Amino acid sequence: MSKLGIVASVLAIVGSLTIASFSASAGDGVAPCVHKDLKTDLVKQACAKGGQPAAKDAMKAFNKEKGVTSCNKCHSKLAPSYDLKADGLDQYKKLGGK
Ligand code: HEC
Repeated sequence: MSKLGIVASVLAIVGSLTIASFSASAGDGVAPCVHKDLKTDLVKQACAKGGQPAAKDAMKAFNKEKGVTSCNKCHSKLAPSYDLKADGLDQYKKLGGK
């Protein structure tokens, strides 16, 4: 095997190890919520229980219940940062969110 071939196969092995360990750590736990200073009971509890996926589910259920059709009504960005618009929290509270 040429020197270059050895280098290439070493790189390939290192590459697959990196990918394997990366996906293993991603499977260890769920992604936590991005915002740490949560103002609502709904999202705070969901984040504590199941991280961002649970928060997303809780939000979806809340929107469905309140007849809100777009997440962008309150969020200026969606996954992964879920940035809120300036009045996002107000809108949530006006809808009766806790
Ligand atoms: C009525 C306004 C409103 C709408 C519509 C809305 N959200 Fe939210 N969302 C909020 C507020 C307010 C927070 C922050 C809650 C807090 O600070 O406790 C939030 C937080 C989140 C978070 C947690 C983000 C993090 O990681 O910190 C996720 C995920 C989320 N929303 C997903 C969604 C999805 C998906 C939709 C559409 C199905 C949606 N939201 C629609 C108001 C809204």
